[in-house]
Amino acid sequence: MAKMLLEMGQSHLFEHWPEPGTEDDEKRAFFDQVAKLDASYPGGLISYIKTARELLADSKAGRNPFDGFTPSVPSGESLTFGDDNFVQFEEAGVREMKNAAFILVAGGLGERLGYNGIKVALPQESSSETCFLQHYIESILALQEASCKLVQGGCQRQIPFVIMTSDDTHARTLELLESNAYFGMSPTQVKLLKQEKVACLADNDGRLAVDPKNKYTIQTKPHGHGDVHSLLYSSGLLNIWRDAGMRWVLFFQDTNGLLFKAIPASLGVSATKQYHVNSLAVPRKAKEAIGGIAKLTHADGRTMVINVEYNQLDPLLRATVNPDGDVNCETGYSPFPGNINQLILELGPYIEELTKTGGAIKEFVNPKYTDATKSSFKSSTRLECMMQDYPQTLPPTARVGFTVMDIWLAYAPVKNNPEDAAKVPKGNPYHSATSGEMAIYRANSLILKKAGVKVEDPVLQVFNGQEVEVWSRVTWKPKWGLTFIDVKNKVSGSMVTCHLEAQMGTYFHRR
Ligand code: UTP
Repeated sequence: MAKMLLEMGQSHLFEHWPEPGTEDDEKRAFFDQVAKLDASYPGGLISYIKTARELLADSKAGRNPFDGFTPSVPSGESLTFGDDNFVQFEEAGVREMKNAAFILVAGGLGERLGYNGIKVALPQESSSETCFLQHYIESILALQEASCKLVQGGCQRQIPFVIMTSDDTHARTLELLESNAYFGMSPTQVKLLKQEKVACLADNDGRLAVDPKNKYTIQTKPHGHGDVHSLLYSSGLLNIWRDAGMRWVLFFQDTNGLLFKAIPASLGVSATKQYHVNSLAVPRKAKEAIGGIAKLTHADGRTMVINVEYNQLDPLLRATVNPDGDVNCETGYSPFPGNINQLILELGPYIEELTKTGGAIKEFVNPKYTDATKSSFKSSTRLECMMQDYPQTLPPTARVGFTVMDIWLAYAPVKNNPEDAAKVPKGNPYHSATSGEMAIYRANSLILKKAGVKVEDPVLQVFNGQEVEVWSRVTWKPKWGLTFIDVKNKVSGSMVTCHLEAQMGTYFHRR
């Protein structure tokens, strides 16, 4: 390990070491950490440092990773909630669900939210106080039951549920599960995979950063949710699932209380259109601060369908096909739909790809430079990777598509603390606990309305400095209504009204 570090230009790590025989335990601990960093990165530290040098040089030179590519609009499916097409995709999705595994990426620090617990333990709304993790587990169990019922004679399939954790979230996630009897799921159905942090970089030469508080420790930071692919690959779970006849892997994030309303139809789209990769998306206004899904074609013939960050998409369009950049089309939205980072991958082609790459995802680096010479950093940086960059290495034959859903149905993440949310420019989403909660009531109210229920109009109210639409505060267990048809069947033929009471909250009244 010492020889490797010296060969890789890391002699500074040993600069302040005392004579042999002094502080040997600390020195051993240093090498234990080096060995761990080496083992947990595909290709080891040598590969990490080499990639870091290349990416830092690109960043210093201001090179755009998509230079040479021309964007165009990829093909995908756009769904309208409740119409026949939607209902058919939901049916197809529920049928396929027994062949799916769910992966929750929950290793993030949640710095923007400023909550010191784990995000999945937060209640998704305050009427039932169900926490995100409970809601996810109950949704998966309800889907499992509904899907197995469609098999003649029933089936015993348990939908696997994997949670990617990190040192910041692992113990508390396990504790939340154990102290709540896994919210009704069988403990063997749940697997926790812990991602490791990566070494920080002190300068453009890729020198590893020493922890300012301990000269025997290399500073580390999270590597991003892209780690989920290499972790899944090395866990051996993918092959076990394939051998058990499973077909789909669904990835989702920690605090989107709406997601499971969009899952059945999206899986239906994957199954019907035979997509190897299906990204869930929402309509996106041109230049809106959310990545756009685009097809990129290189002059040398390479193509990929990929999420392009909004600050890269507009300049790329300007430099290639449209001097006006990203503009709305006749629908009033950008033709490039907004990526919400929930992916459905077909298991067979996924395994095939990971066998080639080991699950390594194209990384990026985002150093904050001290000045325009870009020669030093304000604080150490590290390589990062994102799970949605998975399609970058796929062959042109891969079937990569997307499913666009109404935003009210599919996407209301809780990422920002109340103070920062209140400062969000008007018209932009708050992405706070307040907006996340209100989005659940609104979606449930709109679903009921479409199913024929009389629902009072919403009122505008300000909570935590954020103006939100307050609808009837309706919540239900996933088991009660998983799909639009489920809900419709439940409420049809009876007189149901949703009342809204400004001060006392709301009640859902059924006679
Ligand atoms: P976010 O973009 O919300 O990042 O992650 P975050 O780290 O949780 O929050 P901030 O940026 O510090 O405020 C999107 C999803 O990816 C997971 C998060 O848990 C969340 O579900 N994630 C993020 C990981 O699993 N690992 C990571 O290293 C980063």
